[in-house]
Amino acid sequence: MFNRLMLGLALWLPTLAYAYTDVEIDRKVENLLAQMSLTEKIGQMTQVTLNVVSVGTLPYDMKEPHELDEARLKNALVNYGVGSIFNVGDHAFSREHWREIIEKIQQVATTQTRLKIPVLYGIDAVHGTNYTYDSTLFPQQIGLAATWNPELVAKAAAITAYETRAIGVPWNFSPSLDVGRNRLHSRFYETFGEDTFLVKTLGKAMLQAYQGNDVADKNHIAATLKHFIAYVMPLNGIDRSSAWIPEHYLREYFLPPFIDAIGAGAKSVMLNLSEINGIPVHANPQLVTDLLQHELNFKGLIVSDWESIREVFYHHHVAENDKQAVKLAILAGVDMSMVPYSFEFADQLQQLVKAGEISEQRINTSVRKILRLKFELGLFEHPYYPVSDYPDFGSEKFRKVSQEAASESITLLKNEKNLLPLPKSAKILVTGFTADWIQALNGGWTYSWQGSKPLWVTHKPTILDAMVQKFRDQVSYVETAYETTPLEIQAAVKAAEDADYIVLCLGEKPYAENFGNVLDFGLPESQISLARELAATGKPVILVLAEGRPRILSPFAEQMQAIVMAYLPSNEGGLAIADILAGTVNPSGKLPFTYPFGQNSLTMYDHKHSETYAVQVQYPFGFGLSYTEFAYSNLKIDRKQLTAGDTLNISVDVTNTGKRAGKEVVQLYIGDVFASLAPPVKRLRGFEKIELKPQQTKTVHFKIAVEDIAFINAQNKKVAEKGDFEVMLGDLKGRFVLTEDVHF
Ligand code: NOJ
Repeated sequence: MFNRLMLGLALWLPTLAYAYTDVEIDRKVENLLAQMSLTEKIGQMTQVTLNVVSVGTLPYDMKEPHELDEARLKNALVNYGVGSIFNVGDHAFSREHWREIIEKIQQVATTQTRLKIPVLYGIDAVHGTNYTYDSTLFPQQIGLAATWNPELVAKAAAITAYETRAIGVPWNFSPSLDVGRNRLHSRFYETFGEDTFLVKTLGKAMLQAYQGNDVADKNHIAATLKHFIAYVMPLNGIDRSSAWIPEHYLREYFLPPFIDAIGAGAKSVMLNLSEINGIPVHANPQLVTDLLQHELNFKGLIVSDWESIREVFYHHHVAENDKQAVKLAILAGVDMSMVPYSFEFADQLQQLVKAGEISEQRINTSVRKILRLKFELGLFEHPYYPVSDYPDFGSEKFRKVSQEAASESITLLKNEKNLLPLPKSAKILVTGFTADWIQALNGGWTYSWQGSKPLWVTHKPTILDAMVQKFRDQVSYVETAYETTPLEIQAAVKAAEDADYIVLCLGEKPYAENFGNVLDFGLPESQISLARELAATGKPVILVLAEGRPRILSPFAEQMQAIVMAYLPSNEGGLAIADILAGTVNPSGKLPFTYPFGQNSLTMYDHKHSETYAVQVQYPFGFGLSYTEFAYSNLKIDRKQLTAGDTLNISVDVTNTGKRAGKEVVQLYIGDVFASLAPPVKRLRGFEKIELKPQQTKTVHFKIAVEDIAFINAQNKKVAEKGDFEVMLGDLKGRFVLTEDVHF
C-alpha cells in the first residue's frame, strides 16, 4: 500500500511542482502586465519566423548550415519584446541543433530582456515532429482518420507531444479540425475527412493526447485547433479562396469539432485565412469574438495564420492598407499576429493605440492570454527540459506505433476473386512513380514545407524496398516518372511478361497548401496509359495509391484486379503496404471520405434525398474490405419511442464468419426521415473498431441521447424534431420515433 502510494506521488510530483492554480496564474499575469510598457505588450502579440533572427538574407534565405544571428535575435527580443518565434525556414534540423536554437533564444529572453519573459516557440508538428531528423513520423491526418481508431490516434499524438517537447518546443499548430467537405482542396489530407462526427471524435482524442492533464508536464505541449472555421470548403476547391456558407450549415458541419475540443481544454486556436460570405475570418468579430470567445467560451490564445492579417488588405481587399488590416483584426479578436517576416505589425499596432483607435485595454486582454499560456506551460521555470529526459525520442518502440497506424489506415478497396494476399511464391513486378519514393508516402510538411526536398531519412523503406524484404528476388522493378514516358511504359509491359502479378504504385507528388491546387481531379493521362497497358498484358494488376485526396480512378479502375488505398502513410508506410499485400496484416482501414466516381460526382455520403440521383461513387464513405468477412445480426433498439431526456440503447452482434482474425469498424448511422430542413439521408452518429477471431461474435453497444440526433435549423437553433428516425448498422435497419420536438 505504502509503495503504491509513493509511486503515485512520484508520478504526480513533477506535475505539482510547476502547475499553478488559476488564481496564482492570474496574480502572476497581472503582476507582470502592470510592469510592461506598451512596446513590450505589443511585442508579446508579435510572432516572427526563425528566419527573422537567423543569419541570411531576409525574408527567405537562411544561411546553410543554419545559425542564429545574435544581433537580430536581440533586436527582436530586447527592442521589440517579441513574444513568439515559430517554424524552421523550410527545412528540418537535428534534435541537437534544435536544442541549441531554443536554448539560445530562451537564454536571451530570460536574461537580457527587462522582464525576462520566455519565448513561446511554435511549430507545425502535424504528422509527428516533422521538422526534426530522426523523429517519429506518422500517417497524415487523413490516414489516421482511416484507422477509425481514436486510441491509436491518441498514441501517435502523445509521441508527437513527447518528441516536440524533446526538441524544446512547447506549442504545436495541430490538430486540424477542418472538416474536409471539399476533396479537391490541397489541404484535404491534413483533415480527418469529410464527416463531422469522425473529425470531432478523432480531433478530441488528438488534442487530449497532445495536452495531457497538464501542459506544464514535460511530456506535453499546447495544441492549436485550426483553422477556425470552415477552411476546407472553398467554393471552387482552390486554397485561400472564398467560401459561401449559411450560418446553420456552419454550425451543423464545421462547429462541433471546435466545441468539443474547446470543452476539452484546448489552449489555442488558429484562424481560417480565407473569407466566408465575403468577410475574411481574421476581420470578422462575429466569428472571432461573438462565436468563438463568447458563445464557445474560449479563453485561450487566438493566433492568426501566416501573414493573414496583412492578407485582409492585399488578398481579400477588405482593408485599404496594412494598418487598417491590423485594426480590423485586433478589433475582431486576434491575440497574436503570425506576421511573419518583419516587425511592421508591432509598429502599426503601436501607432493605432497611440492614435486612440485601439485601446490599451484591448491590448491587455491579448497579452494576458499570451502570458497565461506561458505560465501554464511552465516556461518561466523550465523554458526547456534536459535532453536526457527524453530517452525514447525516435525509438523503436515509437516507430512501431507509426507502423501500426499505417497498417490500420491502409484500406483495401477492391480484391477481385480474393487475389490478395499474394502467395509466398509470387513473382511480382513493382512499378509506378510512388513505388520507390519515400516522399510520395509522406506528402507535404515532411522535413520541408512542401515535402519535396530530398529527404534526409533515405534509409526508410519505400514500397519497393519493403516488397523486396518480403519477396526477395521474386521482385522486379521498372522505374517510371510522374509523367510516365512511352519508353517507360514499354519497359514495364515487357517486364510484366516474367511476372505473375503487377503492383502498380500511383498517386500524387508531395505538396502543401496552394502548391497543391488542381484544376483537374484526374490522374495524369500518362499514368492512366501505364495502368491500361499493364492491364492489357493479362497479368493481374494491384493498384496501390499514395495520395492525399481521392484522384479519379474511373477511367481504369475496372481493369485493376485489386486496389489498395494507402493515403499518405509516412515513413513506415512501405512496410505496412507490403504487410497488407503479403497478408501478414489483415487490412482494417475504412475510407474517411466518399471516393468520387467522376470529376462531377462530388456528392458526399450525407447528401440530401434530392441529391440521390446524382450519387455515383467509386467507393462509399466508411468502406474498406478485409481478408475475412463479418456478419451483422440481432440489431436491438431498446425503445420504439423517445422523449426529451431519454437515452436510446442500440446494440448489434458482429461475427467474424471468415477464416482469419480481423478488425471491423462498426458504424452507426441514423437518418431523420422528415425534417423542417431537408435532412441528409443519414449521418454517422457512432462507431467502434473491434477485433474478432474467426467465428467469434461481439455485441457492440451505442448510447444515443436526443441531442445526438438534433440538427441546426434554418433559424440557427439546435433542435431534434419529432418524427421517425431510421437506424442503420451494417446491412441491418431499424426505426424509432421521437415523440416531441426538443430544443437545445
Ligand atoms: C500556414 C498554414 O495555413 C498553417 O496551417 C500553419 O500552421 C502556418 N502556416 C504556420 O506554418
